[in-house]
Amino acid sequence: MSAYQTLITEQQGPVLHITLNRPDKLNALSIQLLQELGQVMDKVYANASIRGVILTGSGSKAFAAGADIAEFAAFTEEQGATMSADGHHVMDKISRCPKPVIAAVNGFALGGGCELAMACHMRFAAENARFGQPEVNLGLLPGYGGTQRLPMLVGMGRALELLMTGDLIDVQEAWRIGLVNKVVPAGELMAHCMKVMEKILAKGPLAIAKVVDSVHACFDKEVDGITTEVELFGRSFGTADFKEGTQAFLEKRKAEFQGK
Ligand code: COA
Repeated sequence: MSAYQTLITEQQGPVLHITLNRPDKLNALSIQLLQELGQVMDKVYANASIRGVILTGSGSKAFAAGADIAEFAAFTEEQGATMSADGHHVMDKISRCPKPVIAAVNGFALGGGCELAMACHMRFAAENARFGQPEVNLGLLPGYGGTQRLPMLVGMGRALELLMTGDLIDVQEAWRIGLVNKVVPAGELMAHCMKVMEKILAKGPLAIAKVVDSVHACFDKEVDGITTEVELFGRSFGTADFKEGTQAFLEKRKAEFQGK
């Protein structure tokens, strides 16, 4: 994989590790960083040898402390709208990815950083992680999905409180309200993410992709979620993975999925 200015990517077996790499700016999401993240995600979609992604921040202080305030401070309305639309495009590539994407939140996940973590399929966080959507302090609202994904994860009342106060919450509170799947000691964060990833990668890849699609249909106003589930459930029966999974169960052995 080619080198990026703002990201470090490293493939370990089937798992691509993506590290946001602007530690002196607490990994703030510059336009360039988001563009590069979009390019990496295109490779994740296209490259069959990559079967899952773990996303984290460099350094021990931040996952990402938001969009790059210095960069957008002088933007016009039009530039602001473009920034948001482009950011959404990248977040959607992550959330709709047919392969598992896990956020390893290793510090501040604020503003766009919280939105990026929420675009991932699940979030495991170190004990020092802090979350928040402080955009209102800047006279802004979140532009990378915060007003949409936060209520989905924590409910409207809690989301509105976080979005309207701009308060930061610690990791235990983030776990309590459902923003974080599990809290782990910082030194064990990556090992935990790998453990969950390995568990997912042992399942039928086509089934995993359909789970992502079907769960998203629950929140997609353009489609009916139940209809989508019925259709995807039916299509699963035509896959070799389904035949292998059911046969392995009946033969009391471990399934060997081929993703076909
Ligand atoms: N955009 C641009 N730069 C950022 C940034 C952001 N979102 N968040 C942090 N940085 C930069 C700081 O400007 C500073 O750069 P400098 O050393 O060149 O001055 C560097 O990262 C370190 O941050 P600093 O504020 O000194 O660290 P801290 O430990 O005192 O505070 C935070 C940490 C996260 C509380 C604080 O950086 C912060 O409030 N950041 C902005 C959070 C935010 O509003 N995010 C939403 C943006 S839409």
